[in-house]
Parts: sequence; C-alpha cells; structure tokens
Amino acid sequence: MLAFTSAKIFMGFQRNHNGPNNYRSLSLTRFDSDKEREREMENKRKELMSRGLPKQKPLKGVKQIVVVASGKGGVGKSTTAVNLSTALKTIAPQKSVGLLDADVFGPSVPLMMNLQESPIVNDNNLIEPLVNYGVKCMSMGFLIEEKSPVIWRGLMVMSAIDKLLRQVAWGPLDYLVIDTPPGTGDTHLSIIQNLPVTGALLVTTPQKAALEVTRRGANMFKRLNIPIIGIVENMSNIVCPKCNSKISLYNGGTEAIAKELGVEILQSISLSENIVESCDSGKPIVLSASKSIPAGAFTDLAERVHSFLASQPINEE
Ligand SMILES: Nc1ncnc2c1ncn2[C@@H]1O[C@H](COP(=O)(O)OP(=O)(O)OP(=O)(O)O)[C@@H](O)[C@H]1O
Ligand SMILES: [Mg+2]
Repeated sequence: MLAFTSAKIFMGFQRNHNGPNNYRSLSLTRFDSDKEREREMENKRKELMSRGLPKQKPLKGVKQIVVVASGKGGVGKSTTAVNLSTALKTIAPQKSVGLLDADVFGPSVPLMMNLQESPIVNDNNLIEPLVNYGVKCMSMGFLIEEKSPVIWRGLMVMSAIDKLLRQVAWGPLDYLVIDTPPGTGDTHLSIIQNLPVTGALLVTTPQKAALEVTRRGANMFKRLNIPIIGIVENMSNIVCPKCNSKISLYNGGTEAIAKELGVEILQSISLSENIVESCDSGKPIVLSASKSIPAGAFTDLAERVHSFLASQPINEE
C-alpha cells in the first residue's frame, strides 16, 4: 500500500483533465407546438442522443447505482444521500453500500459522514474509499485541502467525476448512492451518459422555485431513459413538539408535479432541528436519533428504494 498525499492525487486530477471525456452539453430545448410534433421531436432527439452517447460502462464490482438529484440547491440532497446510504446498510446489513459525493465544488460527505483522513492508493493504483457507519465513501473533499477553491470548467469536472468513479476501489458493492450538485449540468451528464444508473431520486422542497426546476431535472432523466424512483419532499412541514401534529410550511404543489411527471412522492421529511444537528455532527439522523420521526421517514424511504432496487437488473462486469 502506498500512502499518497492529497496534493499528489489532486495534481493527477488536474493533469488528466484533457482525457477522453470530450462530451458536449446537450441542449434541452422546449417545444410549445402540438402533441404530435412534440412526440416526433422527442423520438428524433432520443434517437440522436442514443447515437451520439458514449457507451455506458458498468463500474467494476458495483451492482446497482442510485443518483440523488435536484434542480435547486440546498434542498437536502446530501442529507438524503447520507441517510439513505446508512439506512440501506442498517436495513440490509449483508449488502455492501457506497456513497459517492459527486459535488466537486461543494462536497458535503466529509462533514456529514465525519470523515477527514486522506485516502490511500492501493497496490492496484486505485484510491481506497474511506469507511464510516459501514458505508464506503469517496469525495473530492478527501483529496483537496479544505480551504482550497475548486476552479474547474466542464471537461475538468467530467474528468474528476470519471476518476472518482473509476479510479476508486469501490467493489464489491451492492449499492452505490451518488450525491450530485444542484441542477442538470456536466456532472449529471458525465454520470448518466457513462454509467448504467439504476434509478434517480429527486429531492425538492414544496416551493414553486424548487418544483419548477425539479420538472427540468426529471425530464433530463426521462430523456436519458433513467428510471425515476420517486420524489423526496423535504422540509415541507414542522412537527408540533407538544401534539406531534404536522404544520405545513408551504402551499404544496409537489403532488401536482408528481402527477404531471407520473412519479410517486416516496417520502415527506419534516423540517427538524435534529436533522441539522446530525448533519453538522457527522452522524446521520437514522443512526444518531433512530427513534425520531425524521429518522423513521428516512428509514422508510430506504426501504422503498431497497424494494425498487430488488426489482431492477444488476450490472455485472
Ligand atoms: N429536513 C430538514 N430539516 C432541517 N434541516 C435540513 C433538512 N434537510 C436538510 N437540512 C439542512 O439544510 C442544509 C442543506 O442541506 P443539504 O446540504 O443536504 O442540501 P443540498 O441539496 O445537498 O445542498 P447543495 O445543493 O448545496 O448540495 C443542511 O445544513 C442540512 O442540515
Ligand atoms: Mg449537497
């Protein structure tokens, strides 16, 4: 085993940024014409996209992949991803679970999973993930100095994501949960064009601004033929500490979007002080306050994702 410094790994990422990932952004154009024309255009677009896309290649030793995404920032993707991965490990201890923090500009996994060490590179020249709560984790935050700004453009981001996926000793893994940055940018394309993603989980708050971009995110997955597992509605209400009744914080709207997209709302998570504390202290709420209402909601979510995964094909390489 060779101990590499984070700076060396970081330099490797920089040096290789002009690698084979020479993708172009796909424009997600909207059409307002009648349904038939829209369908025709949709088919044409799908055909063109599938023709031009690089072949999806499974990750060695990784059986299924779940992407956690949202259109808008700060809605709780990372909170959902860390709780989902630890809850999956708790409800199915025999399964091996990984968590990739694909947010290279604002990594959250080091803080939320309480991992600060620098990873090592093994004899096969692969970076060993760091492990906490039984979950194998990798994040750009493990490889660069905490205070260094990441100033990268499209290809560099895609190259970094490719390395976090393919130059890490993930296998053997039953489930890899990928936490993504907000939006529908280079990171998402890099992941979904290159990997056989089993399903996507969309996180949103029930506000107009968040829901509208959720629709855009959902359409990206649909166009690239990635199954949408469902929507997680986060911070939608608060629970009265006296009577435990739920008080809505917004006017709703998630149900209408879910119906329009033909996807299910898998879980509504309350705004909770316990969640903030658990994120900041580095122990996901499903472990730190396992009997709490939000922990129950995340565990229930994990059970539903677990059943979805059981019904889906397994990637083998
Ligand atoms: N249900 C909740 N109740 C209270 N606080 C929450 C809840 N969900 C998330 N938070 C807090 O909101 C903040 C943002 O959450 P998180 O980092 O998970 O969002 P994100 O969507 O990953 O953000 P980004 O787009 O920046 O990656 C965190 O401080 C987290 O602790
Ligand atoms: Mg995040």
